[in-house]
Amino acid sequence: MLAGNSIGKEFTVTTFGESHGRYVGVVVDGCPAGLPLSEADIQAELDRRIPAEPKIVSGRIEKDVPKILSGVFNGFTTGAPIALMVENREVDSTDYEAIKDLPRPGHADYPARVKYGGFNDYRGGGGFSGRVTVALIMAGAIAKKMLSRFGVDVLAYTRAVGKVKNDKKFSAEEIRRNRYRAAARCPDLARAERMEEAIVTAKKEGESIGGIVECVALNVPVGVGEPMFDSLDADLAKALFNVPAVKGVEFGLGFGIAELKGSESNDAYIMQSGKVATSTDNMGGVLGGLSNGMPITMRVAIKPTPSIGKEQKTVNLSTMKDASLTIKGRHDPCVVPKAVPAVEAAVAVTLADHMIRAGFIPKVLERKN
Ligand SMILES: Cc1cc2nc3c(=O)[nH]c(=O)nc-3n(C[C@H](O)[C@H](O)[C@H](O)COP(=O)(O)O)c2cc1C
Repeated sequence: MLAGNSIGKEFTVTTFGESHGRYVGVVVDGCPAGLPLSEADIQAELDRRIPAEPKIVSGRIEKDVPKILSGVFNGFTTGAPIALMVENREVDSTDYEAIKDLPRPGHADYPARVKYGGFNDYRGGGGFSGRVTVALIMAGAIAKKMLSRFGVDVLAYTRAVGKVKNDKKFSAEEIRRNRYRAAARCPDLARAERMEEAIVTAKKEGESIGGIVECVALNVPVGVGEPMFDSLDADLAKALFNVPAVKGVEFGLGFGIAELKGSESNDAYIMQSGKVATSTDNMGGVLGGLSNGMPITMRVAIKPTPSIGKEQKTVNLSTMKDASLTIKGRHDPCVVPKAVPAVEAAVAVTLADHMIRAGFIPKVLERKN
């Protein structure tokens, strides 16, 4: 397969659709039979995508209603591929005709036009739009439901928006309870308000800002991962880098570990409630590409939204002359809040794939007869 729109080996996720095309969808192959699954399960995850606060998101508010096309019978997965899709309804492509020869700095327009010989769908960024995260989130909904049967919980939330940061250590309970209560998706509700203010200010100035999404995967059993080339951290990073606008991924202390001494960075083993654990989690729960039983902690750097209201320099690709560009249309001044469920989904589908590969999840979850 040449196209790069699939991920996973045993739990395979193949996405399709464009920002202004008719549908966005996903085919999930390898989901075990016997998982209760309904459109309401998928809807619940999709509803988390767009924060309720219109001031901090783009004007395009799609009420995504998922359809399960295959792979579910009598309310349970059958073991066959599951196809899911949503319709794009709020499409307005007028602004894109005017700038089709003017690649947006920071977006995929220019390399996509060269790679696909100009046949790429440029409307709304086509297949490079953040809209494609809808497909990932639908796949993630299945992965999360399956993982939860095995006690695994994946929780993403906003750690920073622009310069508004939060270094607090949150309990899993606090993250579960609060992160989707705040439009900025930060479990510290007071800090979340300041994050929202920063986004509103950026929007008013015709600017955009980035931030950091943190994700923790709890209760992943020891030994998940397939070194050498399918190491757990490598595959998680691969999935996360495929979320649009992600420019950095780190585990545990990440880049901060480089300046420590071994005696400071090593996570000492201890016995805890009859199990081997570590007293710290500087490694982020992965050693040698294998889960070590501690929470897997990741941080993802998200860049400022490429489409901004200020005038920018670009080139006109039909005249090959320098040009200037002022982008109109509907854009998120900060993609961080919308990226939170996408990060969660990227981690969940990768863990689902690896838990199946490592033999922790059987092909049939329960037998009827
Ligand atoms: C949820 C989400 C929403 C996004 N919304 C926008 C947007 O409104 N405008 C924009 O220019 N980029 C947006 N992006 C970012 C672009 O899709 C992305 O920067 C672009 O495809 C280039 O890919 P890269 O940043 O990974 O290199 C969004 C990304 C995500 C994850």
